[in-house]
Amino acid sequence: MNILYASSEAVPFIASGGLADVAGSLPAAINAEGHDCRVVIPLYSAIKQELRDSLKYVTEFSVDVAWRKQYCGVFEGTANGVTYYLLDNEYYFSRQGLYGFYDDAERFVFFSKAVLEFINYISFKPDVINTNDWQTALVPVYYNIYYKYRPGYEDIKNVFTIHNIQYQGKYGTELIGEIVDIPLYHSNILEYEGCVNFMKGAIECADKITTVSPSYAKEILYSWYGHGLDKILSEKQYKLCGFLNGIDNNIYNPETDKALYANYSVDNKAGKAICKEKLLEDLGLAPGKEPVIGIVTRFVSHKGIDLIKYVFKDIIDLGYKFVILGSGEAIYENFFKEMMYRYPERVSVTIGFEPELARKIYAGADIFLMPSESEPCGLAQMVALRYGTIPIVRETGGLKDSIVDCGGKNGNGFTFKTYNAHDMLGALIRARGYYDKRMLWGKLVSHGMREDFSWNNSAKLYIGLYSNI
Ligand code: GLC
Repeated sequence: MNILYASSEAVPFIASGGLADVAGSLPAAINAEGHDCRVVIPLYSAIKQELRDSLKYVTEFSVDVAWRKQYCGVFEGTANGVTYYLLDNEYYFSRQGLYGFYDDAERFVFFSKAVLEFINYISFKPDVINTNDWQTALVPVYYNIYYKYRPGYEDIKNVFTIHNIQYQGKYGTELIGEIVDIPLYHSNILEYEGCVNFMKGAIECADKITTVSPSYAKEILYSWYGHGLDKILSEKQYKLCGFLNGIDNNIYNPETDKALYANYSVDNKAGKAICKEKLLEDLGLAPGKEPVIGIVTRFVSHKGIDLIKYVFKDIIDLGYKFVILGSGEAIYENFFKEMMYRYPERVSVTIGFEPELARKIYAGADIFLMPSESEPCGLAQMVALRYGTIPIVRETGGLKDSIVDCGGKNGNGFTFKTYNAHDMLGALIRARGYYDKRMLWGKLVSHGMREDFSWNNSAKLYIGLYSNI
């Protein structure tokens, strides 16, 4: 099968979140099963020069956006054995950062149209287009309205994957005629509760909707998780399913990871102690054996940071240290900075997006905390396990599907159910007790490091779905 995987970001070219990791690893896993999956993303100016230099120019064409014709250049590169196409337009993508501009709707109207148009210009005809999140959600919409009957476009199936339902691409209805450019008699496809909603359009038009864990596929049918889309998803339940994301075991491998202070494996964990020692030293924290909690996250409310805020002092009183990396809402950044001033020897906070430091934290921490209010999948808990760091998570979405409390059989972490700070604290208290029983803790670490969270299983599920439709 030929699969075109359309995304707004992909490792190794450009990343702002987990979507990039998936677009950088799932296609390779699909290809390993004998298919041809290729990826298409925008050519942002933020992509590192050396990666840009490695790309080859393929062709160019123009895309109609409102009353203008916009240039679209096609560049090609290879990563992980997968072909990546990067679509170029400096007016839209030569910016500081990826999203958050006044004209995001127009930028991704351009990109979605360009994705369909460029199929005409390359020697690759997809059987399936897998789009992801609101940025590419208009592809199945345009396909159904404009491309389905065009020569060369027959019989392409559309799969739409929801990585996070909170970000939907919601705009005023005036956009329909102006920028989005669909006939008014089709406006019902995109209209939802008084707005234009890109994600809703994909939910209407795609042949299948997937999301990134089985639990999240159920949760988003409820209003608490669905951010308004639960009603339409309930109607379209027949085409919705959830597959747990995987991680790339070659990229995340403590035996070979060059970002680490020392390498180690499940059979020889000596390097992990060095990673902890050096991390504490580098970040200016007191040395010592007390357990270190790692947090690598975006500072937004659904990541559960309010719970951490609420019982921060209690956690410190249990003897934990914190190593925190992330950026986001000022209220959380300021809180963490204040905690760093208050407990300079016990708390380190780095504001930013630093993949290398993230890996040092996965390796150097003992515990990885993810108390998310909602978590479609979450990849960090899987990476943490691979690096021998025990996750403490709330039982939601992919966290629930990947982490089992070690109070029962085959546990690999600590979990709590209710979105409540003291329930989280309870899990941290249990983990603290467990940590002191060094033999038990060692076993837990080894068990986690041996688990397989690669794409092996889920890539097969995607392939099964593609061939079914
Ligand atoms: C989004 C979700 C995260 C998921 C990732 C990849 O970032 O918030 O839970 O792991 O997408 O699918």
